[in-house]
Amino acid sequence: MTRVLSGIQPTGDIHLGNYLGALRQWTSDQHAHDSFYCAVDLHAVTVQQDPKQLRSKTLETMATLIAIGLDPNICTLFVQSQVHQHTELSWLLECTVSYGELKRMTQFKDKATKQGDSGQEHISAGLFTYPALMAADILLYDANRVPVGDDQRQHLELTRNIAERFNSRYGNIFTIPEAAIPAVAARVMDLQSPNVKMSKSLNSPQGTVGLFDEPSTIGKKFKRAVTDSDNDVRYDWAKKPGVSNLLSILGATTGKDPEILADDYHQYGPLKNDAADAVITAISPIQVKRAELLGDKAELNRIISVGAEKARQVAAKTVAKAKEAMGFL
Ligand code: TRP
Repeated sequence: MTRVLSGIQPTGDIHLGNYLGALRQWTSDQHAHDSFYCAVDLHAVTVQQDPKQLRSKTLETMATLIAIGLDPNICTLFVQSQVHQHTELSWLLECTVSYGELKRMTQFKDKATKQGDSGQEHISAGLFTYPALMAADILLYDANRVPVGDDQRQHLELTRNIAERFNSRYGNIFTIPEAAIPAVAARVMDLQSPNVKMSKSLNSPQGTVGLFDEPSTIGKKFKRAVTDSDNDVRYDWAKKPGVSNLLSILGATTGKDPEILADDYHQYGPLKNDAADAVITAISPIQVKRAELLGDKAELNRIISVGAEKARQVAAKTVAKAKEAMGFL
């Protein structure tokens, strides 16, 4: 059976782009594959986090993952830092990857430059070795398939290289994973700048639809979505990105083809209203479920610790094999 693993950072707020573009796929994958999903809090601290904030965001992320439909009885759902094998294997992999390989990672270069630009001098060593920890996340579970966004393609390629190098040095220990970059996942762009992906790091509160926004806020954001002035509804990303984005969101939330949906509309107003309504209908059960989970922290923590225990069973075996192969006593 195919083994799937993916991770999400417990920072920022989950938005519609995360949900339609990636997370929703996780919920269907759990039925088809043996799936592992984690909140990667160790990755989050590669940049400084407020401890209180990290704790509450991690709980919220776990509640959100369950609320969108990941079933802890079907998949293995856990918090990365609770499975200490991640840090342990990460060191072995840091000693397998080269300085030059890490230096070529575009995400490191981007993040390091961004921090430098914002006047923040401190760039942690962890930000640099981030890909070794990510490789550990994946290799610990013998994952064959790793659903990630296109921005993580380079990290996946590096994970494969690390695994191959380790295997050729020490014997066949790791499964070589493949990236599963969704080909048909909904394209969800920023409502204010439809040429860029909806993103929590973009800092565009009006263009980003939070999964936990109030229905009235969602309505307003769609009403103010940027379109164009010719009032012609067509699914055409090159010429009409704003309108196409609305059609894409409406299609993804109703299960219809955006191109066909375009025929039903002759004005932008009704399209915006219907897109907002479809989003609200799709996400309100998720909002209710998440609030319920966060209302009973004891039960939520119990679910989280069961997940960690399940993950540890698998991870411990891999670490034992890797350490044995490298010659540790
Ligand atoms: N680096 C990923 C991101 O920023 C998150 C991540 C950490 C991840 N470990 C992972 C994704 C393992 C897939 C598999 O999106």
